[in-house]
Order: sequence, then C-alpha cells, then structure tokens
Amino acid sequence: MLSGIQPSGELHIGNYLGAIKNWAERADEYDCYYFMADMHTITVRQDPAELRRRVLTQLATYIACGLDPEKNTLFIQSHVPSHAQLAWVLNCYTMFGELSRMTQFKDKSARHADNINAGLFDYPVLMAADILIYQPDYVPVGEDQRQHIEICRDIANRFNGIYGDVFKIPEPFIQKVGARVMSLATPDSKMSKSQPEGCVFMLEKPEDILRKFKRAVTDSDRENCVRYAPEEKPGVANLMQIYASATGKSYEEIEKEFDGQGYGAFKPAVGEAVVEMLRPIQAETQRLLADKAYLESVYRAGAEKAAYVANKTLRKVYKKVGFIQP
Ligand code: TRP
Repeated sequence: MLSGIQPSGELHIGNYLGAIKNWAERADEYDCYYFMADMHTITVRQDPAELRRRVLTQLATYIACGLDPEKNTLFIQSHVPSHAQLAWVLNCYTMFGELSRMTQFKDKSARHADNINAGLFDYPVLMAADILIYQPDYVPVGEDQRQHIEICRDIANRFNGIYGDVFKIPEPFIQKVGARVMSLATPDSKMSKSQPEGCVFMLEKPEDILRKFKRAVTDSDRENCVRYAPEEKPGVANLMQIYASATGKSYEEIEKEFDGQGYGAFKPAVGEAVVEMLRPIQAETQRLLADKAYLESVYRAGAEKAAYVANKTLRKVYKKVGFIQP
C-alpha cells in the first residue's frame, strides 16, 4: 500500500480523517509506504525555507498521528531519484490529450494563470511513477484523486500491453466515512488550506478550533435539528461526519445525543471533540520536531528502503524499453 501527501500547506483534519488516520490502522495488515510529495509541490511556486519546514513538520505529524516508522516506510519523494527517472519513461507512454483533460490541471492552471509550467501539466505522470514503481495493490487517497489513479492505471495498462506484465495495476482505496471533509464555512467545497476560515489545522490552537466550529455553517432552513441529510443539510452532515470520526459514534447515536438540542449545543460539542482528538497529536508533534536527529534517522532509513524496492522496478522498465544496463 502506498500514498503521498503534498507538503504544500499545513496539514488539516481533512488530511487526517480522510487519509492519515486510516493509514495508521493498516500497518499490521499491509506493507505500507508513505511519502512527502515535495517534487509535486514545486509545480506551484514555493518559498524554499517554508517548504523545508513543512516537510519536517509533516513527517513529525505523520508519526504523531500513529504512523510508526518501524512498521511503515516513511520517506521524502525527492530522496528517491527513481521516481523522476520512471516518470521520464512514462512520459513517453502518456498522451498530450489525456493530460489536457485532467480536471486538476484545468483548475490549477486557472488559479495560477501566470505559471502554467510543464511540471503542472506533467503532474499525473510523476504521480503514476510514484505509485507504479512500488507495485502496490492499493493506493489510499481522497475522492479528489480518483482521476489521477485512473490515468495511472491507463498508463500502466498501456505499458503492460506493449511489454508484458511489468506493472501491477493498483486499486484506489477510498474511505467512506471521513473520506471527504468539507469546509466549515462553505460546506459545498472540500476543506482546504486555501480557505482558512473553514479549515481546521492539525496544529491549530484549541481556542481557534472552537471558534471555527461555533461559526460553522449549518443549513439555511430553520429546522435546527441534528439530522443526517447530506443533500438538504450538507453543513450539518459534514459536522456529523467529523464528530463521528472523532468520537467513533454512528450517525444514529449522534442524532439521539442531540435530539431536541439544536445546533447551539451541537457545534461546540464537535469543536470540543476535535480539540480532544488533536491534543495528544499536537503534543507529540512538538516533541518530535524538537528532535531533528530522530526525524533525520527516520527519513534516511525510509528512503533507503524505498529506493531498494523502487530500483528493482526501474531496472526492469529500463531493460524492457531497450536501455543498456549500466
Ligand atoms: N496528488 C496527491 C494529492 O495531491 C499527492 C500524491 C503525489 C500522491 N503522489 C502520489 C498520492 C502517489 C498517492 C500516490 O493528494
């Protein structure tokens, strides 16, 4: 199993509930690889010092969220050069037309019209290389990454069609509950760091978290009733989903708990539950960030193990396409 997150901003509870939390629970069942996708991040301009800081913070947060480096291979994408090497080969098996149709490319080029660089266009091919090079069975991602997994499978099938079974065809692994945490301010869009008022960051102060939940948008009707109805009441459904993930309660139990109490009681309760969920993670992240030598030992060991596996696939690919073995 393999996945990555871009260190393009602070991690938030959407990343945690939609991804990292579930990853931590799978370490005994699967051989898991997780990486910081720093190479993907520079498709949009980054401040170098900030990028370095965020990669380390992200690693510390992953570990604090329960990703045990003894059981999971944690590494930094740019430390394993074979991702980029495979991406080049795969570029030659990916069509201009199919990359042009990627919704993320269309969105990002609209948002960064002054910097529509080749890396942004090629993003899905690097991602396909990230995945295929480890021959994973599953790729746990959020719903928004489905199209990227699809194109990865298309590229792999095309390559296999020419050269035989080189790549395993990976399956997306998309979690139901918590898969898509929506913005607290605009519940019809995904929780995102670019909209900080609707976004709860992993390392955010409890008072700020509580304030954001108290202000969370519920619904426009006057029903004032905690009821799971995602179509009619997306804001309430989102809060219920967050509360369910933070407490382990079912929607039915939550409806009962707040029966007759309305949003005035519900919203702060969700805020409190999230503060409690984050408290131990925040403390552990700070402790790890103070221990740079430990973090370094983790990402070094991770890259070494990842490179070993990745190089096997790369050698096979190079041989198939006709490169002379060095
Ligand atoms: N594109 C993914 C995202 O933005 C991050 C990513 C890069 C990734 N490479 C990956 C995820 C490989 C899974 C597998 O969330």
